Amino acid sequence: MEGVQRRSAERAGPDNCVSRLSALFFVFIRVHSWLTPGVEVIIQPNKEAAASLVARIVGHDLRANPHLVLGLATGATMERVYRHLVRMHKEEKLDFSLCSTFNLDEYVGLFPSDPNSYRHYMDHHLFNQVNIEPRNTHLPNGLANDLDAECRNYEALMQRFGGIDLQLLGIGKAGHIGFNEPLSALRSRTRVKALTPTTIKQNAPMFGGEDKMPRRAITMGVGTIIEARRCILLATGDSKAEVIAQAVEGPITSMVTATALQLHARCTVIVDEEAGAKLKEKEYYRWIFENEPEWESYR
Ligand code: F6R
Repeated sequence: MEGVQRRSAERAGPDNCVSRLSALFFVFIRVHSWLTPGVEVIIQPNKEAAASLVARIVGHDLRANPHLVLGLATGATMERVYRHLVRMHKEEKLDFSLCSTFNLDEYVGLFPSDPNSYRHYMDHHLFNQVNIEPRNTHLPNGLANDLDAECRNYEALMQRFGGIDLQLLGIGKAGHIGFNEPLSALRSRTRVKALTPTTIKQNAPMFGGEDKMPRRAITMGVGTIIEARRCILLATGDSKAEVIAQAVEGPITSMVTATALQLHARCTVIVDEEAGAKLKEKEYYRWIFENEPEWESYR
């Protein structure tokens, strides 16, 4: 009898309380992870289908929330996405009039009118062709006298707009997102970053040679990017196959800053067959797109 009383006293003691709390915590983590899918990979047959899927997700979110705050990327891969968005604006009346945008990055030292500036890229590929309010489009100012203050102000402005709802991302050949080159801290904020030789080589053709290319850029930090409510990374072509396999299935490392997206609660990586060629779990990813209800309306 005494033994029974002691055992029930033990059950009600601090150890029992700790185990109940940890069980509750476990349930919370499970429920949270059901609601937030983490990283999902979607493989599409070709570049066009992959870009169209990204544009349709943007269109869906913009229709659901006309005040959407969109994070935007530049680069060759994104041009197709913007072509689809422009078409959706013209043919399907996709309305950009209330949304706001923040771009990931801008070169230091280029005027907005410079054909290689990211402001020029965005105006040309998207802003001038849809009904977005120019004052709602934001890029870091790479000509600011005080670049550090510009970076702090850019962060503060994003906060004032309530943060990024949907962030579009490309990926560099060395695994950068934005211009977060290898060894960028995974908690980094918007700042000036020196470009690596790989990035300079990748982007030099647009400038007509490596010697004409800026060596620095302002970029949102990795920490800034992963605060977006949802991220979509688009990669196409065989030149991205190796880095996509590292980014999605490799260990998290600041040497490949895209690996930080593995920590994100809701990141969708969309690839074509070529960029997805080196992924180990291809069959699983295909199954997700073919069967999960979330993707039904996109199939
Ligand atoms: C550009 C940016 C970069 C590019 C990446 C891929 O704003 O943030 O991270 O997305 O370098 O560029 P492309 O698509 O030209 O291969």
